[in-house]
Amino acid sequence: MGKVVDNTEQATFTNMVEGTQEDWGKIAKHAMQFSKGLADRVLDHLRLLDGDFGGFPIDRLQHSLQTATRAHRDGRDTEYVVCCLLHDIGDTLGSYNHADIAAAIMQPFVSEKNHWMIANHAVFQGYYFFEHLGMDKNARDQFKDHPYYEYTAQFVHLYDQAAFDPDYESEDLAFFEPMVREVFKQPKRSLYLDVLDKNDG
Ligand SMILES: [Fe+2]
Ligand SMILES: [Fe+2]
Repeated sequence: MGKVVDNTEQATFTNMVEGTQEDWGKIAKHAMQFSKGLADRVLDHLRLLDGDFGGFPIDRLQHSLQTATRAHRDGRDTEYVVCCLLHDIGDTLGSYNHADIAAAIMQPFVSEKNHWMIANHAVFQGYYFFEHLGMDKNARDQFKDHPYYEYTAQFVHLYDQAAFDPDYESEDLAFFEPMVREVFKQPKRSLYLDVLDKNDG
């Protein structure tokens, strides 16, 4: 038997076919509250990369911070820097498709261009090491004619593949937290955008 529910706070249906507008009003209220904590949950998840070296010279959190720091010091805007910070957040759950995880988390909040860059960065990163694994280092060329090819190649070259230096002094995570909160404050794209707009405030 499940927990006793407080009907003033929770929907009472046992099948969605029985759901009412009142039920969904309660759920929407909770969802609005819960979504406000997204930036904190993302930051908590990013911290899971701390101490995860995976054979690299620096751990994955330090790699993320270094990627973001290099971009920030190079004058990139907040959205871009946050993409840098979070581009490998999928390493914990997406062992075979980590770029897809970061891209899915960021998709509502960033431009199509930045989303594409994050979603495809892994194959572009391969240009710098795939040959050492007997793979095709030019696999990125499948996107040669894509409008975001150069943009993504540049991200990987300047910031991602370059961010494994144990002697580089990166900013810490606290430095980037306000930027993460700013980017995750308001979705630009979502199936639920109309509902969010109506319930905002
Ligand atoms: Fe990556
Ligand atoms: Fe990376």
